[in-house]
Amino acid sequence: MPLAKVVRLDALPPGTMTEARVNGQSYVVANAGGEIHALGGVCPHRGASLAHGALHGSSIVCPWHAWEFDCRSGEHDFDPSIRLARVPVRLADGDIYIEVP
Ligand code: FES
Repeated sequence: MPLAKVVRLDALPPGTMTEARVNGQSYVVANAGGEIHALGGVCPHRGASLAHGALHGSSIVCPWHAWEFDCRSGEHDFDPSIRLARVPVRLADGDIYIEVP
């Protein structure tokens, strides 16, 4: 799958997230305690941009109605059948890339 460059690793410190838009799709890229995770960036509830929410530990909190998703699995905290698609991450030369379809 093609790689899309997102951001410099040092521009995404632990506890922060950013949005990546690739081919018209939105992704959220999170640094949870030094682990980089990428997931579909649109909340399955009503479509908020998750990158504009909050990152609490490994939980992404939606900015609109506070649904929470574990960035390691993509699962909603109360209903694991609701999940964000996980996107493979690559690190190279201090840059973060995601593998996109
Ligand atoms: S849009 Fe995300 S919780 Fe409602």
